[in-house]
Amino acid sequence: MRNDDERAPLSIRSVGVVGFGLMGSGIAQVCAQAGYRTIVREVAQPLIDRGFGRVDSSLARIVKAGRMSEDDAKAARARMHGTTELADLKDVDLVIEAIVEEIEPKKALFAELDRLCPERTIFASNTSSLTIVEMAAATKRPDRFAGLHFFNPAPVMPLVEIVRAITTSDATIATLRELVASLGKTGVVCQDTPGFIVNRLMVPYLLGAIRALEQGVATVEEIDTAVKLGLRHPMGPFELLDYTGLDINLHVANVFFDEFKDPSMAPPPLLKRMVLAGRLGTKTGKGFYEYDEKGQKKSSTGTR
Ligand code: CAA
Repeated sequence: MRNDDERAPLSIRSVGVVGFGLMGSGIAQVCAQAGYRTIVREVAQPLIDRGFGRVDSSLARIVKAGRMSEDDAKAARARMHGTTELADLKDVDLVIEAIVEEIEPKKALFAELDRLCPERTIFASNTSSLTIVEMAAATKRPDRFAGLHFFNPAPVMPLVEIVRAITTSDATIATLRELVASLGKTGVVCQDTPGFIVNRLMVPYLLGAIRALEQGVATVEEIDTAVKLGLRHPMGPFELLDYTGLDINLHVANVFFDEFKDPSMAPPPLLKRMVLAGRLGTKTGKGFYEYDEKGQKKSSTGTR
């Protein structure tokens, strides 16, 4: 029998994206812009419509900024197809999963895709905190399974972490490296450990900012201003927490703390209380700041 690692990297022509939320829509758009036929699957038509609304406004921004012609934007949009049927992904060369950040629905999805898709199809998860090998083990293709972790906003952020599970073959990593480069992004390969590279460094930093606020070091605005001007970050920690979602950050902190038992990863009480209060950030109009309907920052909520 041929060793999988001896196979030449597959050339990918079509991509399936499961989940058309914030990350899924950005990932699908990036794939379509790079010339791939891209099929996105959501569970209901209104979610597909909402995803395409996000894609349309992102493409319009790129065209307005002069970074793409209107014709190219139309062509990219025409390469994208929405469906509610998972079976419509049966012929794609690569599936990227971007559904809810919970292990059981992801495992069930990949087990179903494993039945539908031919052996050659590579599976990837965009998870930011869960273990890749646990999803890979739900399929009969753990060698053709990896993490592909994009950053928000995916059409803008130049990095993709390519996550190698202990089962992932060299051929799969080589194919994903090629794919990421073809998307105009820089890929870094890393091991399947909690948070990979970026979140492993970023989460303790964001939680540290909340602890500094709890301890009265400075206000939300002062901490954000200090980080933006002192470190030249495009966003301060509270702007970034609101932007990525407080619920996501709480979930990720809990996963990390379970794994590492490191106090710097433990979610601060204020984060949990804000999530319980429904202050999830930009998406609910209120987090550490308040936002208008267009997601523009209005003011600090004065959280202490
Ligand atoms: N689609 C297309 N283009 C977009 C866009 C989108 N969704 N969002 C921003 N842009 C473009 C704008 O059109 C603009 O383009 P030009 O410079 O060509 O005019 C450019 O990006 C900058 O945007 P703005 O001028 O509107 O605003 P900004 O300068 O404040 O940048 C930002 C916005 C790019 C989001 C910037 O604030 C930033 O980089 N923030 C940090 C984001 C970050 O750290 N992301 C990682 C989060 S962690 C994560 O995602 C992983 C995880 O697991 C949670």
